[in-house]
This record gives sequence, structure tokens and C-alpha cells, in this order.
Amino acid sequence: MPANKKLLMLPGDGIGPEVMGEVAGVLEWLDRKNIASFDISEALVGGAAIDAEGTPITPDTVARARGSDAVLFGAVGGPKWDKLGFDMRPEIAILTLRRELGLFANLRPATVLDPLIDASTLKPEVVRGLDIMIVRESTGGIYFGEPRGVETLPDGQKRGINTEVYTTSEIERVARVAFDLARQRQGRVCSVEKANVMESGLLWRQTVTALGAAEYPDVALAHMYADNCAMQLVRNPRQFDVIVTGNLFGDILSDLASMLTGSLGMLPSATLGAPDASGRRLALYEPIHGSAPDITGQGIANPLAQTLSLAMLLRYSFGMKDEAAMIERACLAALESGIRTADIMQPGMRRVTTREMGAAVMRELERLAA
Ligand code: IPM
Ligand code: MG
Repeated sequence: MPANKKLLMLPGDGIGPEVMGEVAGVLEWLDRKNIASFDISEALVGGAAIDAEGTPITPDTVARARGSDAVLFGAVGGPKWDKLGFDMRPEIAILTLRRELGLFANLRPATVLDPLIDASTLKPEVVRGLDIMIVRESTGGIYFGEPRGVETLPDGQKRGINTEVYTTSEIERVARVAFDLARQRQGRVCSVEKANVMESGLLWRQTVTALGAAEYPDVALAHMYADNCAMQLVRNPRQFDVIVTGNLFGDILSDLASMLTGSLGMLPSATLGAPDASGRRLALYEPIHGSAPDITGQGIANPLAQTLSLAMLLRYSFGMKDEAAMIERACLAALESGIRTADIMQPGMRRVTTREMGAAVMRELERLAA
């Protein structure tokens, strides 16, 4: 049994705490079965932290996240906090964690599980077996570039400014993550930018090309403009293996890709920092769905994306491949048993609550571990 690893849970707002509750059950089970034990602690983020601590994330929580081996994040935001100033948005919590912990590689898989093939709005033959990994740069680009702000011009009108900026090393380190992942997958990377209109995009393309030629000649590298990529993702998504792109294009394209699967409630994600000398790498895991204020408090949210985020955490942060695969198989088996939460409900299936889906996953885990 591995030595205790430090895990920080940040449930956040809305359905975050509801789905995190089911994951807590899985963690308890892993411990009870002597499969894995973690030092688990919890803190507030987002609206919950604004209400209790006056800020979307306290420096203490950031420090605890930095001192953890992995962070499991829920979701932040909700109508209650919509009218606060720009610096008091619940979203600041996740942006601060990415920036302060240097979590530059955001891995967003879009996979279609066979039992859910009809959940997609696309035809089954277009999405069957879909397995895309989007690697989105997440500490740079226009999200963080300077100058930024709103200034008042001499004629009294205002001007809003944000800056897209990428350095060679920022591009290289995220491209390396994509190339390395491709080697474990189908060996193909598609790099996405707007090199036709943006200098930073042209530098992106040149840098990825040079890196590919120098270090990854075995990986097939293609380039695509971001607008074309959006179109190709809908037209023929299975042409993609790994997509690597900047922060803003990655934000948009990953939402698009996740909807190819028909259910946001199913998709996990990982955001990784650079490995240090000992190989330790800060990392945060979160479902792709947001806080879903419209269904909060009803106990009907789908806990599978949060549960699959734990599986990703075990795989990427702790090298626990078998345990991760077991959790993924348990989620799949729960679906195969014919139950669905509201977001993925289909004719002929039995609709269940968050708790019931969580319980079904636990039952399948018991069976798999027996
Ligand atoms: C995401 C979200 C965030 C982003 C928001 C909540 C700041 O949309 O993780 O994709 O834009 O990065
Ligand atoms: Mg987004």
C-alpha cells in the first residue's frame, strides 16, 4: 500500500459538494479495502469562500493546494455571486490555482462510452468510439496576458484590452505534454492556432513544428486553424487524437468537444504543472461541468464526472493505473446496468438520483474487487 498522499478536496459551489460527496464515499471504500489511503483535507472555494472568508480563494487555501500531492476540485459559481465585482468572481478561484500552482497543461478528454452513444446529438456512426484528448494551455495566453484592463480615452469612451501572448518555452512545455500523451495513444498531434491572423499563432506553429521535428519525429504532427478545427470537430471528430492549443481556443474547443459526447456530466479533466527534480508534479482534477445552479440542491446531479476525475487523479498523480481503471470500469458498469441520472436519461432506462448512482458505482467496485 502506498504511503499516505496528501489530497485536498475543494467542492466549491452548486452541485460541486453534491457530486464530491459520492467521491468521498469511493475514497473511504479504497481506504476500508486497504487499497489506498490518503491524507484528505477540505477547503472552501468560489462563492462558498466568498460568503465565509470574503474572497474566492484565500492565500491559505492556495498554500495548502501547493502543499498537496493532488487537488480534487468540484465547481464554482452561481447566480448569488453574479453581481459582485470582477475581482470577486467565484471563477477567480480556479484561475488563481492554475496560475499560482503553475498548472499549465489542462487535459480534457472527450470520449464516447458505448452505453451513452445515443446521448450525443450527432449520429452514432460519427461519434462511436470517439476518444479525443485536448491539451489546453492554461496559465498563459489572453487569460493572463498584459496589458489588460479598461481605460478611458480622451473623448470619454472606454477601451477594453486583453493581450494574447506566448513565449517559446510556454509553447514548448505544453506541446511536450501533448506529444508525450500522443505516444501513449494513437501517435497523432494536431496543433491549433490562428497563424493566419495572429503573430503569436505563427510563433506557436513554428515552435511546435521545430519541437516535433527535433524530439518527436515518431509522432505525426498536423496543424489547423482554430475556426477550421471547430468545424472539423463537428464534421468528423474521430480524425483527432491529441489536440494541443492555447488557453482561449482550448476553452472554446473543449466545450465543443465535450458536447460531441452528449453529456458534460460524464467528463473529467486534469490540469498539470511541471515535474520538479524529484518528479513530483502539482496537479488539479475537476469535472468539466460547472456548478449547475439550475439543478443544485435537488440531488439529481450526475456524480460520474467527479468520480472519473478521481480516477484521472489516481492515474496521473499517483501512478495507480489499476485502481483508476477499476473506478472507470465501475462507472461504465453502473451505466450498463441500465440506470441514468437526469442529464443522460434515455428511453427504457431507470432514472436515478446522485446518491443512487454513487451507490451503484460502489456496488460495482465491490464486485470488481471481489
Ligand atoms: C473552464 C472554465 C473556466 C475557463 C472559467 C470558469 C474561468 O470555462 O475551465 O473551461 O474559462 O477557463
Ligand atoms: Mg470553459
